[in-house]
Amino acid sequence: MSNPTDSPVWFITGAASGIGRRLAEQALASGARVVAAVRSPKSLEDLACRAVDSLQVVSVDMAEPASIRRAVEEAQRCWGRLDVVVNNAGYGLVGALEECGDDQIARNLATNLVGPLQLIRAVLPFLRAQRSGHLITLGAAAAIGNYPGFSVYGGAKAALEAVSESLRLELAPFGIRVTVVVPGPFRTDFIQRSLDRAAHRMPEYEPTAGKFLGFLERMNGRQPGDPERAAAAIVRMVSEGKAPMRLVLGKYAVDKTRKTLAARAVELAAWEAVGLGTDFPPT
Ligand SMILES: NC(=O)c1ccc[n+]([C@@H]2O[C@H](COP(=O)([O-])OP(=O)(O)OC[C@H]3O[C@@H](n4cnc5c(N)ncnc54)[C@H](OP(=O)(O)O)[C@@H]3O)[C@@H](O)[C@H]2O)c1
Repeated sequence: MSNPTDSPVWFITGAASGIGRRLAEQALASGARVVAAVRSPKSLEDLACRAVDSLQVVSVDMAEPASIRRAVEEAQRCWGRLDVVVNNAGYGLVGALEECGDDQIARNLATNLVGPLQLIRAVLPFLRAQRSGHLITLGAAAAIGNYPGFSVYGGAKAALEAVSESLRLELAPFGIRVTVVVPGPFRTDFIQRSLDRAAHRMPEYEPTAGKFLGFLERMNGRQPGDPERAAAAIVRMVSEGKAPMRLVLGKYAVDKTRKTLAARAVELAAWEAVGLGTDFPPT
């Protein structure tokens, strides 16, 4: 596959598997060129053989800021531009906050939150100079409303949403767009090899965090979301030149968003008088 030299360039992290891999394949099929940033470049050898002139594989560990900067420099040297930057790499950490080890928490936040911010910081000088670009970040249903046992992972994803809201305002004057993709459960490796489990299980948390882990394990292999269709929705959004703040994927996440917004409105109304009573009285 050889896509034209003026075609858009996508930079996708975590392109070795799941949604990221489908996204790389479908972006290539749409006529784009792709820089696939992965921990193990060997994992993309088959795709690299099929797309010799359109796919550049670079090595990255999202928990290592220096490796992120190197990957962006390499990508920039390759085709001299970046158009769509997808912060897709990530993994879960399940367990009550008290059950998780310090090192588990630090690594999860480094990969899911600090790494994506470092990537955005590394590409911004190029995108600002171009005066164009689309930053896409993979959020999660846990950021719509979180579960017991997902405080670290869901916290990181919720923080990415808040960061993206701010960036959307900061970067609009430069023609740079920002979108968070919010998937419900999709059938990928996420609940298998991409889910770290708390180091010290405590019986006290079995009815909450423990039960949630059981729920995830039972769902594994039966998630309603199809990663192929998720990738198609993202490629279609970009091809159509659209950039919603949030692209919520799958019925589970759509229903959950609607229920959460409704519940927030009810709670706001119930506590409105208390909240309003805390301003200085009008003069
Ligand atoms: N599937 C779901 O139900 C679901 C729901 C909500 C959100 N998400 C989010 O969607 C994104 C994609 O996940 P997925 O479902 O496609 O799962 P996946 O198939 O397990 O893909 C996750 C990818 O992230 C990469 N990764 C993890 N840590 C990394 C690191 N330190 N540096 C570089 N790459 C790293 C993995 O690379 P390796 O191959 O080297 O391990 C893997 O390719 C993630 O951000 C995830 O949080 C998924």
